[in-house]
Amino acid sequence: MINLKDIEEELSEEISRINTISQLQQVKVKYLGKKGLITQAISHIKDLPQEERREYGLKANRLKEYAEELIKKAEERIKKEELRKRLARDWVDLSLPLEPAVGTAHPISQVLKKIRHIFVSMGFEVMEGPEVELETYNFDMLNIPKEHPARDMQDTFYVNREGYLLRTHTSPVQIRTMLSQKPPIYMIAPGRVYRRDDDPTHSPMFHQVEGLAVDMDISFGHMKYTIETFLRAFFEVEVPVRFRASYFPFTEPSAEVDIGCVICRGEGCRVCKETGWLEVMGCGMVHPAVLENCNIDPEFYQGFAFGLGVERLAMLYFGIDNIKLFFENDLRFLRQFL
Ligand code: PHE
Repeated sequence: MINLKDIEEELSEEISRINTISQLQQVKVKYLGKKGLITQAISHIKDLPQEERREYGLKANRLKEYAEELIKKAEERIKKEELRKRLARDWVDLSLPLEPAVGTAHPISQVLKKIRHIFVSMGFEVMEGPEVELETYNFDMLNIPKEHPARDMQDTFYVNREGYLLRTHTSPVQIRTMLSQKPPIYMIAPGRVYRRDDDPTHSPMFHQVEGLAVDMDISFGHMKYTIETFLRAFFEVEVPVRFRASYFPFTEPSAEVDIGCVICRGEGCRVCKETGWLEVMGCGMVHPAVLENCNIDPEFYQGFAFGLGVERLAMLYFGIDNIKLFFENDLRFLRQFL
């Protein structure tokens, strides 16, 4: 007769030692397979004398149930352990400190955005023109004579195509706008401009924002109000503003706009060259000849225009004394404008 007690002990002992699914598979075959020990014990029932069958059969079947239960538990234990090992091996350290690489807009972009926002809030539309411009839009139609020194190769970048140049200011966008739109016109034109200039306050490429208003009954007073309102909104304080008579071929009368030095508050310092004032833009009433060049009748329409230097405003706004810092893109510099 097969000793069920021995089988049970052997099985418990073996199960407690194994730790892989394949070992478990072998145990399963050994005890519960077709020729397994417990399977044999059960088929052995019929060979027993009648009086022993009942008790033995009961025990054998219990042993089978017990074995199944034991194997199921072992399988759970082994799977849990395998998962634990896999997690320990494949772990990702989420606490690893990363350098936060947060990008921000370039200080010039930030200032351009601020300028655009102020003028758009006053009802100006934003226009654009090409950086490679027709010489006639950049000079002739703006009333700049052929012999004007600004046209000199010393001052202007010409390109390898007759009649084209890198625009030296954003004023040609005035021409483009007046040729394509009827008054009333209220527009600004931000963009890059190019001049053969290179020192701590001049860069061969820099940014300007052009402004143009053409409508009926436009006066110098409208221009003065618009520019003063802009400058106060931009610098966020009641800066002193003055208009100084000047000359541009495309405006008459023309003026240069100064603000009270934001560095020394008018006391006189290195930045304002001891004058207490800083020049921030050129402006004037659109010259009648320019309106006529664009088929706008100066008898009915007048306009004002201005052109401001973005780097200049940015240097004053952020307190920076070298224009080159904007173009070197040294991260230690740029990170100060988060
Ligand atoms: N285009 C002039 C410059 O670049 C600035 C300006 C624009 C002056 C519009 C008057 C009117 O210096």
